[in-house]
Amino acid sequence: MLDNLRFLTRLILQPRTTGAIAPSGPGLSRAMAAQIPAGAAGPILELGPGTGVVTGAILDRGIAADRVTAVEYSEPFAAMVAERYPGVHVINGDAFDLQKTLGPRAGLKFSAVLSSMPLVNFPMALRQKLIADIFTRLEPGAPFIQFSYRLGSPVPPPQGASVTRAAFVALNLPPARVWVYR
Ligand SMILES: C[S@@+](CC[C@H](N)C(=O)[O-])C[C@H]1O[C@@H](n2cnc3c(N)ncnc32)[C@H](O)[C@@H]1O
Repeated sequence: MLDNLRFLTRLILQPRTTGAIAPSGPGLSRAMAAQIPAGAAGPILELGPGTGVVTGAILDRGIAADRVTAVEYSEPFAAMVAERYPGVHVINGDAFDLQKTLGPRAGLKFSAVLSSMPLVNFPMALRQKLIADIFTRLEPGAPFIQFSYRLGSPVPPPQGASVTRAAFVALNLPPARVWVYR
């Protein structure tokens, strides 16, 4: 309940970047984390963790906290995730500028990137730039996992990549789709 209130406050103060009326539900969070390949052994990058429900699902999937880097634009949300999940490397910064935001971690190749960012609130050119950047940071064949409330995928896959709808989560406010780009 308190998280819903915090989320609503963020939505009022930062509507474009918050981009949802409530935190992701447990079903959506699990559906996102389920797309991390079973044998993934490398680091995991999360973009826009918000209140940290997807972060929790990633850890529940058996990923050690010190393998997870989370980039969150909102300072209060970043502080909340850092407090909730000790060991997760939380960065308060901009996912649209990962080279600068990731700092010493900018050279890592990730086994999966999960994003709760409200991509559709940003211009298409910026979304395309982001996904192209993400693909340079993924191990070969590793997934970029993004949810969206829209019927279609929020950004076309870059050349040579594909996108599939991995899940539809009806029991979420609002119902959401999980997209996997490879
Ligand atoms: C839909 S909300 C978060 C949903 C999250 N799964 C939850 O349940 O709390 C989107 C999040 O993306 C973050 N965000 C938006 N733009 C961002 C950016 N450029 N860099 C990093 N995070 C961003 C917002 O601050 C917000 O926390």
